[in-house]
Amino acid sequence: MARTHDGAGVLERAAAAVGPLLQSQVACLAPRTRDACGRHFGWPAGAVPATVGSGGKFVRAALALLSCEAASGEPRMALTAAVAVELVHNASLLHDDIIDGETIRRGRPALWVDIGVPGAILAGDALFFAAVQALTAAPRWERSVPVLLACVQALIEGEFADVLMESSVDTGEDQVLAVAAAKTGVLLACACELGAIAANASAKRAAHLRAFGSNLGIAFQNADDLIDVWGRSETTGKPTRSDLRAHKISLPVAAAMASISPAARELRALFLRETPLDEEQCARAAALIEEAGGREATERSVRKHADEALRHLQLAAPAKDAEQALTALVDRLVHRDR
Ligand code: FPP
Ligand code: MG
Repeated sequence: MARTHDGAGVLERAAAAVGPLLQSQVACLAPRTRDACGRHFGWPAGAVPATVGSGGKFVRAALALLSCEAASGEPRMALTAAVAVELVHNASLLHDDIIDGETIRRGRPALWVDIGVPGAILAGDALFFAAVQALTAAPRWERSVPVLLACVQALIEGEFADVLMESSVDTGEDQVLAVAAAKTGVLLACACELGAIAANASAKRAAHLRAFGSNLGIAFQNADDLIDVWGRSETTGKPTRSDLRAHKISLPVAAAMASISPAARELRALFLRETPLDEEQCARAAALIEEAGGREATERSVRKHADEALRHLQLAAPAKDAEQALTALVDRLVHRDR
């Protein structure tokens, strides 16, 4: 039967294929670690749930499976790669929520709020090493494990850069984009490259799929920045404007501040306050960002990086079905709030 190619369906299929494997990886962990990780995914202690609906969107898993298919492999050849990138992603979220002091994840209390910071750090460590363990046991591990490890080093550097630039009003758009590439682009790039490796793709094809993932990651992060300011928390599972409240220099903010206008000056003044912005100040900041052109500039960046992703996808000479599914996924990821 022909597959329909809407982005939501693509993600649902990835969740159905990879969710049970993710659960079995977590089920293999020692009891305390397993229970802590299970709580993060929203799985009750000791139970193997029938659904995986609360465990995330499975974007990275979908990219690994479809990149494998795009490179003329069978998607099942990339199942381990798909599980590995989901494990790394969830490990990074556990640590990121502690670093950001974020209390809500996927509409539930973040794990550090639920079981404390030490448990959440350890759960993140466990998921990260479970990813390496899984990939080490899969075919072509000599090619895939170094890719995953290099990705995690880049991810850490990206998170470091993100933390350091958070409150500086002199942060430029280029810096924000570099962080988006390092923090989000690298794991999406890695998912695509691991999928290509699972299909035993040539270095050139793997590089184009990697560039596809990297550009998609930047577009995805830029779209995330828009959602923080103008999205709805029912859609995102995260509190609205939490980045803005914390004076975080996202792309819309950096682009707005780069303009020479009264709105940019007022925005800078708001961001230079010592205390977090209250609801009214957040609303004012959102209006100023829009007035100073930050929303439009970010929408432009989303489109530019999504187009560049699709250009690399073409250069990878993708198998037809996978090409359609990946194109639908790009559309879905850059228009998440509709
Ligand atoms: C979310 O960003 C965070 C990341 C994309 C990367 C975090 C990376 C690390 C903590 C280093 C890697 C660590 C391990 C253990 C693999 P965000 O805060 O902008 O997004 P959010 O709103 O979803 O929190
Ligand atoms: Mg965060």
